[in-house]
Amino acid sequence: MSKPLVLVTRQIPDVGLDRLNEECHVILWEHDSVAPRDWVLEHIREAAGVVSLLTDVLDATVIASAPFLKVVSTMAVGFDNIDIEECSTRRIPVGHTPGVLTETTADFAFALLITVARKIVEGARYVKDGHWKTWSPTLLLGQDLHGATLGIVGYGRIGQAVARRAKGFGMRILACRSSAQAPTHGEDDDDVELVDLPTVLAESDFVSLHVPYTQATHHLIGKCELERMKGSAILVNTSRGAVIDSNALAAALSAGDIAAAALDVTDPEPIPLDHALFHEPQCLIVPHMASASIATRERMAVMAVENLLAGLQGTRVPFVVNPEVYR
Ligand code: GLV
Repeated sequence: MSKPLVLVTRQIPDVGLDRLNEECHVILWEHDSVAPRDWVLEHIREAAGVVSLLTDVLDATVIASAPFLKVVSTMAVGFDNIDIEECSTRRIPVGHTPGVLTETTADFAFALLITVARKIVEGARYVKDGHWKTWSPTLLLGQDLHGATLGIVGYGRIGQAVARRAKGFGMRILACRSSAQAPTHGEDDDDVELVDLPTVLAESDFVSLHVPYTQATHHLIGKCELERMKGSAILVNTSRGAVIDSNALAAALSAGDIAAAALDVTDPEPIPLDHALFHEPQCLIVPHMASASIATRERMAVMAVENLLAGLQGTRVPFVVNPEVYR
């Protein structure tokens, strides 16, 4: 029997690709860049499956041009780049990779928080620029995490993992859930006060975002929300860029409405070099790397491949985004 034809839109860790090559005929976009839409449209016509990344736009047109498609598998937990409704209409299961990146992403959100609160980037630059002449009692004073209030917006898997870290740091923890998040096992925690978004924003010294990107969370943090926050507050985003209104954030930072922001994700992404946020000195931006540990990316690749193979075999995709395809 001939192997099923599978499209892979970028080089993924070998552990995943090797397994795929055993079972499938793989057409791979070999460059470390987003596969051009034309290339995807050309090859998806024949494909039974696709392993995609969060940078691919799998909209209705792309899905419609794939008559033999049996499964879509994204190597990411977020799936806002895929037209799920269109896939469900065609009864195409979509797999994703929840769980395996939870702790790694929470580590990174915390890393961003500490980096900005304690001015680590400024300190490193100060030394490299040759300014370090003596110890100073007033140099680069930052904010303490211990004793401060952390507001967690989105109390799903990653939000709860961030809360566990905050507990260890001796912080007061406020959290609010997004309506898009299903209750998760273990959510009850006496050390976390579940409140509403306005309370999180008004009372927190640091606010960390962990909601999925949906219509409901588009620009969840805009001008009004930023105005509610403390002038000394630091905003951390490791979810999706468009959860924040980027222009409103640039304006709030420039006006000193909040103290600083640390963004793993931006809107647009990558952030254009002429974007106001790019030039904001109190905005630390890194290139969407919160899940980027070697072990986690390997786990994500394996999980994406297992989801794909299940879909090709016609068995239930283990981590399926649209279970309605099985009803
Ligand atoms: C990363 O942003 C992911 O959705 O996995």
